Amino acid sequence: GQGTVVGLLKVGRKKLYVFDATGAHHEMQPLCVLDFYVHESKQRMGCGKTLYEYMLSEENTLPQHLAIDRPSEKFLGFLYKHYGLHKILPQTNNFVVFEGFFIAHPDLKKEGRGNILQSPSLNRFSADVPKNSIATRDNEVEESHTYMQPTLYGRYAAHKPPSTIGKILQNSGSHHSQQNG
Ligand code: ACO
Repeated sequence: GQGTVVGLLKVGRKKLYVFDATGAHHEMQPLCVLDFYVHESKQRMGCGKTLYEYMLSEENTLPQHLAIDRPSEKFLGFLYKHYGLHKILPQTNNFVVFEGFFIAHPDLKKEGRGNILQSPSLNRFSADVPKNSIATRDNEVEESHTYMQPTLYGRYAAHKPPSTIGKILQNSGSHHSQQNG
């Protein structure tokens, strides 16, 4: 019909602490997807994609640079289908950011740490960390913040095969305690 509204897409900037794959947090005000809806009768016909593409072009941004406020399963499916986004960097709030978020993110330049964060390893999703490679640290307080896992993974896995992480951490741990004691 004439100008019938079939959907809406609302974006805006939010002040967030965004955790990278090393577990370091960055105070940022990224562009966030806050509301996205296409009428039931018009879903799965490409309307969402058209809306999203328009927004990306208007905002001059990339899909991986957006933070998503509590995405639904449909929206997650949408992001995977159209943009290949599925590897989530664990956060402590309701916003979801994907692998690649920190790569060349325009808002990070203000931090002066852009170069460090260009490394893809800092953006890598870490859910595939072998459990035994992160649970071997002595003297580590057992507060299980989920974002602690990437800290170990990103920092120590960068130049070493993952299978030896546990050993390395154990050895360096006992080495230090010998030195200190
Ligand atoms: N079930 C599963 N996946 C779906 C569905 C559905 N009912 N609808 C869309 N998708 C995903 C799928 O990946 C689908 O691809 P497929 O059909 O090959 O499986 C793809 O989206 C289709 O892409 P489009 O047609 O471009 O998207 P659409 O016009 O359907 O818009 C949207 C996507 C906005 C998520 C729409 O489905 C919708 O409004 N859903 C209900 C409300 C909702 O969940 N909104 C997001 C809430 S989170 C937030 O707003 C931040």
